[in-house]
Amino acid sequence: MPNALVLGGATGLVGQALYRVLTTRGWQVETLGRADGNLLDMSFLESRLMASRFDVVFNAVAWTQVDEAEDHPDEALLLNRTLPDALARIVKAGQHGWLVHFSTDFVFSEPRQTPWKEEDSPCPASVYGRTKLAGEQAVLDTLPERSSVLRSAWLFGPGRKNFVSAMLAACRCRDSVSIVHDQTGSPTYTLDLAQWSVSIAEKKAAGLWHAVNGGQATWCELAGEAIALTADNSCRVIPITSDLWPQKAKRPTYSVLDTTKLSNFLGAPIRPWPLALRDFLFSAHHPDA
Ligand SMILES: NC(=O)c1ccc[n+]([C@@H]2O[C@H](COP(=O)([O-])OP(=O)(O)OC[C@H]3O[C@@H](n4cnc5c(N)ncnc54)[C@H](OP(=O)(O)O)[C@@H]3O)[C@@H](O)[C@H]2O)c1
Repeated sequence: MPNALVLGGATGLVGQALYRVLTTRGWQVETLGRADGNLLDMSFLESRLMASRFDVVFNAVAWTQVDEAEDHPDEALLLNRTLPDALARIVKAGQHGWLVHFSTDFVFSEPRQTPWKEEDSPCPASVYGRTKLAGEQAVLDTLPERSSVLRSAWLFGPGRKNFVSAMLAACRCRDSVSIVHDQTGSPTYTLDLAQWSVSIAEKKAAGLWHAVNGGQATWCELAGEAIALTADNSCRVIPITSDLWPQKAKRPTYSVLDTTKLSNFLGAPIRPWPLALRDFLFSAHHPDA
């Protein structure tokens, strides 16, 4: 039975999905998070990893507050680059083991109308995007033959607040919500991402992967679909442009990711986000769980 060490596995949106999928697929799973110690204390991190019998480390810890990162670039860099870099070095020194790390569509920013492929040059426009790019590059440079980096996007899933659960909660106490319709991306279900991640780890498929559900949407379309599918559908969804919703960090206008590589690896098409959204909304995992 393979062993996984999941950073963020007890509390993170992706970490909890990984924990659930790994245990279902027969892995032994340990979690590691800030409740266990300071992950940025390198001697703690090293001794904790040395004491573990992991076959694969999944790093789902990150600085994920995109706007706050603009005011805290050093702290964001520590979590988004220094931590994965340290993990890659520790795994490398151990002579065995694999590292799965997560990154983001926010490494892209330029206007475009066709999905971004793994070989396209990144162009982050925010501190979050730049620090995440630095983290993925550190992992792939240090441990090229024993690491996988999955770029995902626009995640929804059980266990922690996310865009879909926040919109549904807002609709329960308001008659309308105003949501931007001029940013287009790849909505993705955390449990699908976790399944792909574990498949990649099990096959030891190294390198960079775009790992998102199929199709594309604007934030407005994603919220509208979730609201229309639930009992909250009396709430009106009002499309607005980004300039009416100013945010500190610059967002990409188009960050849809191309999943041809992942689909070929899995030997099956990636399911479209509206199907995954229905699974999330109508499965046992209630959006507020
Ligand atoms: N959410 C998205 O839409 C999205 C999109 C694209 C890519 N991603 C990537 O997916 C990965 C996972 O993101 P997520 O959405 O699951 O994030 P999340 O729900 O915000 O979870 C982040 C995890 O990092 C931990 N963490 C944060 N600061 C920490 C610190 N100083 N020390 C120790 N642990 C700390 C959190 O612990 P606490 O619970 O204790 O705070 C939590 O377990 C990240 O690499 C992210 O860049 C996410």
